[in-house]
Amino acid sequence: MTVNPLVAATEAPPIAEAWSWVLGREFPADRPLIDLCQAVPGYAPAADLQAHLAEEVGRYDTARYTPITGIPPLRAALAARTAELYGGAVRPEEVLITAGCNQAFVVAVMALARAGDNVILPVPWYFNHKMTLDLLGIEARPLVCREENGLVPDPADAEALIDERTRAIVLITPNNPTGAIAPPQTIAAFHDLARRRGIRCLLDETYRDFPDWGAEPPHGLFRRPDRDDTLVQLYSFSKVFSLAGYRVGAVIAEAGLLTQMAKILDCVAICAPHVGQKAALYGLRNLGGWVAERRADIVERVDAFKRVLGDGQGGWRIASIGAYFAYMRHPYDGRPAKEVAKELADRHNILCLPGPMFGPGQDAYLRFAFANVDTALMPEIARRLTAPGR
Ligand SMILES: Cc1ncc(COP(=O)(O)O)c(C=O)c1O
Repeated sequence: MTVNPLVAATEAPPIAEAWSWVLGREFPADRPLIDLCQAVPGYAPAADLQAHLAEEVGRYDTARYTPITGIPPLRAALAARTAELYGGAVRPEEVLITAGCNQAFVVAVMALARAGDNVILPVPWYFNHKMTLDLLGIEARPLVCREENGLVPDPADAEALIDERTRAIVLITPNNPTGAIAPPQTIAAFHDLARRRGIRCLLDETYRDFPDWGAEPPHGLFRRPDRDDTLVQLYSFSKVFSLAGYRVGAVIAEAGLLTQMAKILDCVAICAPHVGQKAALYGLRNLGGWVAERRADIVERVDAFKRVLGDGQGGWRIASIGAYFAYMRHPYDGRPAKEVAKELADRHNILCLPGPMFGPGQDAYLRFAFANVDTALMPEIARRLTAPGR
């Protein structure tokens, strides 16, 4: 029996591995499992969205395929929302609807690179980006992020990694796993670098709806007349409308490139789930207020986490924090992060992910996905992490 060696060499899905540490265990009522492992909204979709979907599921139309690129009103609504948030003009033809942002990354990378090429990934990276590149035989070129820069990658470091086989630089902002938010000028500098070197800038903005941007948009790239041959934005509806299981995301890029991506999408999915697309459309049209409330909750969770663990309590240090995640330096110098994470699961009923799941050189860190945990639980998290004899 043969297996594609690229697939065999790709690491196993990390969330499943972390879950296996607690599988079959029972947790006492006074010390329940606190799951800080997966980045999922800890609340149901809006009630009116659920009622809308119940109606839509009753229509034959919802059971049918959609155009490969997505239903036209959703493409138009996301184009309009993008222009509203960032400024500039975005056309519906520049929007491709995918079955989630992971699929958006897969179709983008397949359209841009082939085996033997390379793509620059800031470290720590999002494990599914690395796995996708490994599966395709595309080299992931690590761009190390430094703590003194708030774990935001430096365009000058990236420049040195580019060669004639480099096809793209990936940026995730707000970041998974670190929560770090790249400043608009850094994002612009990455875009400039990519443009100058004739490669694409892949910007994954899965978590962009959670910080409060005030009057300043996350970046100005959609206002730039020169974005066409450089910018590829990846987006997810999973978190913003709590629709992770409905599988909807998007790529926003120049229309000609999307035509190429549509060939891939046709083969891997034909189209994103119709019901999910209807859900996303409903959300864009009706849920601005609901999203603002959820954002306020998440911003409060960031503050609450900082209050209980932001002063070096128990030797823990927040390396960076934002949106959904805190990337923490653990106090067990020299001990592998996986051992520490397993011990937290075994002894303290806390599930989190060890840094090495996000790339090389990450043994000092653990990722806590706290966005799905109520603010009231934060002191309990801190108590368990700082308990004597932990
Ligand atoms: C950075 C990043 N991109 C993409 C995804 C996947 O999103 P989706 O559910 O839309 O596939 C995630 C999910 O955790 C993520 O953290």
